[in-house]
Amino acid sequence: MKILITGGNGFLCKGMIEPLAKAGHELRLLDVKPFESDHEVFVGDVSNFDNVLEACKDMDGIIIAHMLSRSSDAYQSPGPVFDVNVKGTANVFQAAVALGISKIVLISSEAVISRHADLPDANKRHLPMRSKNGLYGLGKILQEVIAEQYAFEHHLQVDALRVGYIVDGEKGQDKYGRQVKERAAPDVDRRDIGEVARLCLERENPGYEFFHVMSTPESMVEHDVQYTCDQLNWKPKYDFTWLPWHGDPKEAKA
Ligand SMILES: NC(=O)c1ccc[n+]([C@@H]2O[C@H](COP(=O)([O-])OP(=O)(O)OC[C@H]3O[C@@H](n4cnc5c(N)ncnc54)[C@H](O)[C@@H]3O)[C@@H](O)[C@H]2O)c1
Repeated sequence: MKILITGGNGFLCKGMIEPLAKAGHELRLLDVKPFESDHEVFVGDVSNFDNVLEACKDMDGIIIAHMLSRSSDAYQSPGPVFDVNVKGTANVFQAAVALGISKIVLISSEAVISRHADLPDANKRHLPMRSKNGLYGLGKILQEVIAEQYAFEHHLQVDALRVGYIVDGEKGQDKYGRQVKERAAPDVDRRDIGEVARLCLERENPGYEFFHVMSTPESMVEHDVQYTCDQLNWKPKYDFTWLPWHGDPKEAKA
């Protein structure tokens, strides 16, 4: 397949592409500033519909993985967040419809349902989307609402991946270069996310679905990841069991 990835120079994308490229998919990476890559680079702004339409041409599938970069004030007012994360996402769906591209993966976040510990029997699959993550969390919720609406109205195949805390498992570092010294349940390797995205794009399952995507044994029940494994016949490859468990050792599953 020919696959467009938005946010193609981002932290997630740099690791996520490995399983997709290994499986023989042709990748076009869209980002707002020029960058070097072994894959095709497309420089454009997701908040500009014409840029997005041009980037989507000749593609068979799309992975939406852009986000407004974190800077001190980026998430302090709605304008920039809505332009990039929300409008940018709607632009991608609109372009996909215009060009007849029917398979789309949205990189969502556990943030859409985070901090629901106060609710009894917090089964992650059935929680309403509600976030205490400010404008970032609101933007992620709106991305999923847009995704489901387009899937329903235009008969697309859309999978939203609610990913946990993304780690570069090779270097053991998070997005900000911080060393991850202990394993926490939501940790997820970038390559595992790429593998789930690949499985979603390669299957035929029209409609809207969302999956929680994390790599650790502890996430299987606690974060509903077993459902993802069962539905996609997937198992995380990089489960961080080489790191000590961060909490009570009795709670560690491996
Ligand atoms: N990093 C995490 O731990 C984490 C956790 C949960 C979900 N996510 C989600 O994963 C996705 C990727 O996040 P990341 O950590 O790789 O972020 P990142 O900031 O490293 O990458 C985002 C990329 O989007 C690009 N971008 C920004 N504005 C753009 C625009 N107007 N047009 C085109 N591209 C633009 C940036 O230049 C950047 O390369 C996001 O959807 C984020 O919400 C990340």
